[in-house]
Amino acid sequence: MPNVALYCALDARDRPTVERLAHLLAPAVGGLKLGLEYFCAHGPEGVSAVRAAGRSLFLDLKLHDIPNTVAGAVRSVVALEPHYLTIHAAGGVAMMQAAREAAAEEAARRGVAPPNLLGVTVLTSLDAATLARQGVAGSAHDQVLRLAGLAHEAGLAGVIASPHEVATLRAAHGPDFHIVVPGIRPASGAGSGKGDQARVATPADAARAGATALVVGRPITQAPDPLAAARAIGDEIAASRVSAREIEES
Ligand code: C5P
Repeated sequence: MPNVALYCALDARDRPTVERLAHLLAPAVGGLKLGLEYFCAHGPEGVSAVRAAGRSLFLDLKLHDIPNTVAGAVRSVVALEPHYLTIHAAGGVAMMQAAREAAAEEAARRGVAPPNLLGVTVLTSLDAATLARQGVAGSAHDQVLRLAGLAHEAGLAGVIASPHEVATLRAAHGPDFHIVVPGIRPASGAGSGKGDQARVATPADAARAGATALVVGRPITQAPDPLAAARAIGDEIAASRVSAREIEES
């Protein structure tokens, strides 16, 4: 079982809080995720301040527009050197291809690594009834698989998916496709409550199902001791690797 990276979602607007958490958690996580809330408030300069914590950066901007506009937006953030950058797979194959080409070109021009583009499939806040009203026939699960297929076809590095789709996506898209998974709740202890996440899994379950990286927000950031919470989740991921190896060897 390959290494599974832990990204902590720093979903807050208050810059001192986010910077403090970034530096506090840096030794215990693989990376830090910043979303629209923080980016709209503090822009590229605020992102650079978090990057100074020295961890891999996940810029969760969920871009969605015509291909030319998304390509331009991608170009604008390449200099921040995010390891992951999200775009909506529902924007279409042409939009995703334009984003990928723009990322590669701009990264080459600047001499930096291009971001790994991830397609957002179906937001976990959309249920079957909401999708039906938008004219999407079938289940949310089928729509995730369909959109992930389009993301792969467009040459994206991978997708965001709920814990429930990981195993199917891993089987369909092979070992190199990045499957990044939010909706993670520790098996027990602080942060094990579901919050507003409807479809959750433990870190170990998501890792065993084939996730490339796990995104965990509030179970870490709202914990009485965020550093200890991050370390406990890291330990849970590591333990799942040991037990998977033991099963393989037995
Ligand atoms: O606090 P919590 O662990 O629920 O945070 C999960 C993070 O993953 C949030 O930043 C949220 O925006 C993000 N996310 C999600 N569901 C998706 C896509 C992203 O929860 N489908």
